[in-house]
Amino acid sequence: MTRAISLHDVSKSYTRGVRVVDRLSLDIRPGEFLVLLGPSGCGKSTVLRMIAGLEEIDEGELLLDGEHANELLPAERRMAMVFQNFALYPSMTSRDNIGFPLRIETPGADPRARVEATARMLGIEELLDRFPGQLSGGERQRVAMGRAIARRPTAFLMDEPLSNLDAKLRNHLRAEISGLTRTLGVTTVYVTHDQAEAMSLGDRVAVLRGGVLQQVGTPRTVYALPRNVFVAAFIGTPRINLLRGVVRAPLDGAMTISLGKQFLRLPEPLSLDHQLLRVQQGREVIVGLRSEAVRIGDRSAARPGEALITGLVEHVEFQGHEVLVHFNTGSRPAVVPDLEAPRPAPAGRRRRRDGGTVLERLRGRAGALRAGPVVAVEESAGPAVEPAPPEGRLPGDLIVRTTPDYALRHGMQVPLLVDIAHLFVFDQHGDRICPAPARLPDLEE
Ligand SMILES: Nc1ncnc2c1ncn2[C@@H]1O[C@H](COP(=O)(O)OP(=O)(O)OP(=O)(O)O)[C@@H](O)[C@H]1O
Ligand SMILES: [Mg+2]
Repeated sequence: MTRAISLHDVSKSYTRGVRVVDRLSLDIRPGEFLVLLGPSGCGKSTVLRMIAGLEEIDEGELLLDGEHANELLPAERRMAMVFQNFALYPSMTSRDNIGFPLRIETPGADPRARVEATARMLGIEELLDRFPGQLSGGERQRVAMGRAIARRPTAFLMDEPLSNLDAKLRNHLRAEISGLTRTLGVTTVYVTHDQAEAMSLGDRVAVLRGGVLQQVGTPRTVYALPRNVFVAAFIGTPRINLLRGVVRAPLDGAMTISLGKQFLRLPEPLSLDHQLLRVQQGREVIVGLRSEAVRIGDRSAARPGEALITGLVEHVEFQGHEVLVHFNTGSRPAVVPDLEAPRPAPAGRRRRRDGGTVLERLRGRAGALRAGPVVAVEESAGPAVEPAPPEGRLPGDLIVRTTPDYALRHGMQVPLLVDIAHLFVFDQHGDRICPAPARLPDLEE
C-alpha cells in the first residue's frame, strides 16, 4: 500500500514568530516521486520530518490518504526515512541491520526470506555477512536503503541520501533509487539542494525558499515556465542570464527592451505575450535568457524572431564538448538576493483594498496574493549577494553556450543572435510576466 500525502497550510516555528515553514500546501499523489528542492536552511528537512512525525506541526494539517494525521505516531505512519548519514548498527552484519526493524515490528517472525529478497533487489547479497566497517560508503548506503525497503513502507522519505558520496557513485545510486522506487510504486519524498539531482529524479519538483513554496511542477515545467526569477535562477546549468532592462513601447515605433546601450527589438507582428508587455512601458524589468536562447551569428545568419546584439568576450570556459563564453554586453545583471521571501498576508489581517496609497495597495496586493518572492532589482551595482549558483558565476553579464569550433579570445567583439521566443521577462517583484502566466497551460497537463 502506498500513500497520498497532503499538506494544507502547514507552518512550523522553532523560535516564536519565525516561521521556518510558512503555510506550505502540497498534494503528493500515491506512488509519486516528489523532490523538495531549495537552498540550505529553506526548511526542506523540517517538512520531511513533519511528514514522518518526527517534528510537530504548529499550524495546518497533514493528511495521509485523505485522513487527518497530525497526531499519528511515527511508527503508525509506516514510512521509512533515509538520511544523509545512514546510521547502521556497527556491531551488526548487513543481514541483521536489514532484518532488525522487521524483528522489532513482528517479534517472533523470521525475517530471513525478506532480507534476502531485498538484498537481491539491491544486488548486495554478497555483503550480507559483512559489518558496516567492512563496507564502502556506497555499499553502506545500499544496506541502509535495504533496511528501509525491507519494511515495505507506505512511503520513502529521503533526506539528501547521496550527498556524502562521490559524483560517480551518486549518479549511479541516483539511477538505482529512481528505478527502485518506481518498481516498488511507493510514494517518495526526496530532499535535495542539488537542482540537477532534483531534475533527474523527480516526477515533480517543489521549489522552496525561506520556508515558502515557490512552485511545484514537472522538471520540464519548472525549467521552461519558472513562476518567478528565483525558480528561474535556481534551476538550470549554466545559470540563466538575468539582465536589467527597460520596456520601450512607443506608439509610433517598434517595441523594444533596452539592455544598457543595446536593445532587443521584439519581432512584428507582436505576439500576444509581447503585446501584454506594453503596460510595462518605461518600467524596469528583468530579462531572463537561458544560454541556449543566444547564439553567435551576425545579421545575415539571423532567423525570423532573432534579435541582434553585440558582446565583448570576457572569458572562455572550455568544457570539452562545448564552450561557455562569458560576454559583456554593457547591460547590468539583475541580482537575486537570497533574502527571505515575503510572507503571504496572515489570514484575517489582509490589507484592506481601500487603505494606504495606490503604491502601498499594489505592494500589499502583490505580497498578499502570492507565497512567492519579491525579488529586488538592486539599485547599487556594487557587490551583491547572489544565491549560490551551482557552478559559481564568472565575469561577464551573458553566458552563451557554443560548440568548441569558434576560436574566441578575450576582448573580441562578437555578434549575438537572441531568440526572442525564448525570452523570459520578470517584473519588479520577480514574477514572470512573459510568457504571460495566465495564458500558457501548465506543461504537466
Ligand atoms: N531544532 C531546531 N531548532 C531551531 N532551529 C532549527 C531547528 N531545526 C532547524 N532549524 C532552523 O530551521 C531552518 C530550516 O532548517 P532545515 O533543516 O529544515 O533546512 P534545510 O532546508 O533542510 O537545510 P539544509 O539543506 O542545510 O539541510 C533553518 O534556519 C534552521 O536553522
Ligand atoms: Mg536538511
